[in-house]
Amino acid sequence: MITIALAKGRILKQVVPMLEQIGIRALDDPDTSRKLILQTDNDDVRLVVLRATDVPTYVQFGAADLGVVGKDGLMEHGGEGLCELLDLNIARCRLMTAVPNEQTARASNGRIRVATKYVKLAQQHYQSKGIQAEVIKLYGSMELAPLVGLADEIVDLVETGGTLKANNLVERELIAEISCRLVANAASMRRQHSAIRDLVGRLESVL
Ligand code: PRP
Repeated sequence: MITIALAKGRILKQVVPMLEQIGIRALDDPDTSRKLILQTDNDDVRLVVLRATDVPTYVQFGAADLGVVGKDGLMEHGGEGLCELLDLNIARCRLMTAVPNEQTARASNGRIRVATKYVKLAQQHYQSKGIQAEVIKLYGSMELAPLVGLADEIVDLVETGGTLKANNLVERELIAEISCRLVANAASMRRQHSAIRDLVGRLESVL
């Protein structure tokens, strides 16, 4: 049995048709079902649908053999115990720092405050630039933080740029190009090598 962990939200909507193309069809609609484990028409494959941030953890500890998750989530997790197998080339976006439109330069001394759900990545980024940053963890709507004085900057995903624009924010630095990845548990890769290789091959053929 192979268990595949899928990240909820935008990724799910694009991954489900991809899995269907390679003959893995959930018996209940993953988008609407309240079931946490979804059987498929393939007796050897089942799906679990999780918050994106939990996917790497389930795969790391072998609770899922494979996971489909954004590179952002993988980088923030650190990738321990995971093998990255495939770039699915969907849900492409950028992890950026962003600031209010009128904020032309950073204060050259003192700390700045940064709001993000990517605490580790933000800390690494500002540290690498020699900027003292106090990073505040948020779980959503990062764009609001600079508008109400919670933070000077944000670190967040930008896809079309529409959310930044609507909130009078502008992109500053690129931290990473992001897309959706297939990852495997390192032990599952050894135990279920041929089944996983076969699934990866089929996915590659539809990419
Ligand atoms: C993401 C991200 C931005 C927005 C960027 O949020 O956090 O807010 O999309 O997209 P855009 O550049 O096309 O406007 P999402 O809607 O996925 O919700 P989230 O805040 O729960 O992550």
